[in-house]
Amino acid sequence: MKTPYEIQYETFTIAGGLYNEGHAKLYAKFADDLIADGSYSIVYEGVAHACYTPITIDTAPHLKCYVVAPLAVLPEYQRQGYATRLMEKAEQELKPDVVFIMGEVHHYARRYNTPHKVGLPVETLAPLENWFALELTNGALDGVGESTSSMTGPYTAPHIWAHPSEQA
Ligand SMILES: CC(C)(COP(=O)(O)OP(=O)(O)OC[C@H]1O[C@@H](n2cnc3c(N)ncnc32)[C@H](O)[C@@H]1OP(=O)(O)O)[C@@H](O)C(=O)NCCC(=O)NCCS
Repeated sequence: MKTPYEIQYETFTIAGGLYNEGHAKLYAKFADDLIADGSYSIVYEGVAHACYTPITIDTAPHLKCYVVAPLAVLPEYQRQGYATRLMEKAEQELKPDVVFIMGEVHHYARRYNTPHKVGLPVETLAPLENWFALELTNGALDGVGESTSSMTGPYTAPHIWAHPSEQA
């Protein structure tokens, strides 16, 4: 059974495009750092891995919220619904009110489709149009409006939020 580090490393080493071996090492170590810090970690069917780290919406601190990252599906298993099923399983286990994810529109916009005005938990140039939310509790984000957000731990390192071209 592959470890979270191995799944992240193998996926991003081969991903191509924006990603190179430097990213693979960065995201694999990021996963291990989050796990050591207490983030929820899920290996799905031995081929996909993600961490879920708590985040607080500052104007609605009663809501149970998480951010997903890093997320990787081994190359030969991509585009077969593994990421989607991993997310469904994590959501069943964590029972969150809201899950956030920072990423590509073509990967995440369809599933993470709840309109929101919650800011990022760090000062970063990362674009808000790539910051998606999915409400699991009906109406959880109704009336939240504009809000800052907060989190602690390895995910607050600014370089993690930078564009891949500036990371490695
Ligand atoms: C991105 C990734 C996590 C998606 O996992 P997956 O198991 O392939 O995703 P699923 O099969 O559950 O599909 C989820 C959605 O992503 C889309 N998608 C997945 N890979 C895609 C690709 N290479 N290009 C375009 N869309 C893609 C699917 O079409 C689907 O969208 P839909 O629900 O609107 O149809 C996985 O492909 C991966 O690890 N890629 C390499 C690393 C990477 O690029 N990570 C993204 C960092 S933001």
